[in-house]
Amino acid sequence: MRTPVIAGNWKMNLLPAQAAALVNELKPLCAGANCDVVLCAPYINLPAAMAAAAGSNIKIGAQNCHWATEGAFTGEVSANMLRDIGVEYVLTGHSERRTLFGDTNETVRDRTRAGLDAGLTVILCVGEVLQERQQGITYEVVRLQTKVALEGVSAEELQRVIIAYEPVWAIGTGLTATAEQANEANKWVRDCVAELYGQAAADALVVQYGGSMNAANAAELLAKPDVDGGLIGGASLKAADFAAIAGAA
Ligand code: 13P
Repeated sequence: MRTPVIAGNWKMNLLPAQAAALVNELKPLCAGANCDVVLCAPYINLPAAMAAAAGSNIKIGAQNCHWATEGAFTGEVSANMLRDIGVEYVLTGHSERRTLFGDTNETVRDRTRAGLDAGLTVILCVGEVLQERQQGITYEVVRLQTKVALEGVSAEELQRVIIAYEPVWAIGTGLTATAEQANEANKWVRDCVAELYGQAAADALVVQYGGSMNAANAAELLAKPDVDGGLIGGASLKAADFAAIAGAA
């Protein structure tokens, strides 16, 4: 049995005090959730979010990390720095990093490596753009992203990897993948991991769906056998909505 993980990705939203206030609002609402609850905050909001979440079941994550431990990388933040302040999770390969900030399958692999080396749990994001879905190559795209990112990741380290399938055309568009589409792609991810690590490891892997998941559609998506949680953007900024999604898990 996999424990579902409901993770919020706040993206570039909220000031530190607002982040703390949202965590404080969520704490009682998520206290009874039958899932792991993670909030991925902008770097500058991490201390405030962690302080607010202390003693609760809410875990805090970052939205990216650099692949090097230190060095001349102006404007970047290392996974070690995140770990040092108490961050437990990090996203890698979010489509906005890929499309807007030049992340490639190889840099996503290296960021994933850095996150694992620092002791973080990595939420690795994969997913096709609309054109790729229309061309019928979603399977190939998702497999390539998954395989390259996991290069060099040991079976033991895989236990600290979550994969989020996020079709890019469904992100921030209000256009959700159908539960069948989400389950199909999540299964492709799991099958790919089974090829690499064996069926038992793949069966233990948490594979989330992300893309316009909200309080209204979460239950149907989460009811699918290969959808083990969600990565939530817009709806994670509203306490009641996010808590409802966690409640549906
Ligand atoms: P939305 O839920 O706003 O579509 O964003 C999904 C996402 O990108 C989560 O990482």
